[in-house]
Amino acid sequence: MRRFLILSHRVPVSGAFSLNDLAGGGGRVDEIARCVSTAFLVSNDLRRDTELTVLFAQAPPPAARRMHFVGERIRHLNPDERSTAALIKNALVRSIPFDHPIEASPGLFVGPTDPLPELARALASGPAYWLTESGAPLGVDEPAPDATVVLGDVDDPRPEEVELLERSDARKRSLGPISLRASQCIDVWHNRADLVAGGAPGLPPERSPTAVVRTD
Ligand SMILES: C[S@@+](CC[C@H](N)C(=O)[O-])C[C@H]1O[C@@H](n2cnc3c(N)ncnc32)[C@H](O)[C@@H]1O
Repeated sequence: MRRFLILSHRVPVSGAFSLNDLAGGGGRVDEIARCVSTAFLVSNDLRRDTELTVLFAQAPPPAARRMHFVGERIRHLNPDERSTAALIKNALVRSIPFDHPIEASPGLFVGPTDPLPELARALASGPAYWLTESGAPLGVDEPAPDATVVLGDVDDPRPEEVELLERSDARKRSLGPISLRASQCIDVWHNRADLVAGGAPGLPPERSPTAVVRTD
């Protein structure tokens, strides 16, 4: 299982934004939508062995929200970012009256959270990586198959999150000298992990890169 965790600080946790203004009033929910898209979608298929969590911390608890996407169950995920942003918006809006997580649409769980303890819990649940430009270069053979990969969104983690990450056992790693979008980091991570795994998790063997065999 590959797990991504994104720390989001600008997206209105009430879901009160227009689908015509994803980057402005939506607090760059366009980038969160791209992260969801790159985490799960490949050409004509889905990565079912992937999960992605977004901690929406634009407002403090109890308004803060944890959104959890499960590749094995997810439906209604289309390649365009507007429809993914609509899934996110609808989930945030639907969760408002609940004090517990709900499955807002198949494979998309959302509920109240306290972001810092939730981040600590995720970091303690197994091998973890914190992707940051200031980390040590990610080794070619390094991506662990069951790792949780923590990323900022359009901003870097807040100081209290950085402190927690620094205190944790998460490996602080860089994907290269250029500051990338979070969604691009997910693409790079998947590719690096695919190469380590020798195939693509969750894809049927005939669609795996290892199935391409030269006969000459
Ligand atoms: C758009 S970047 C954050 C803003 C960026 N630090 C800047 O100076 O503009 C979003 C996140 O992507 C990840 N990231 C971006 N470039 C990276 C790199 N070269 N190596 C590892 N992680 C990176 C980090 O987790 C970062 O918080």
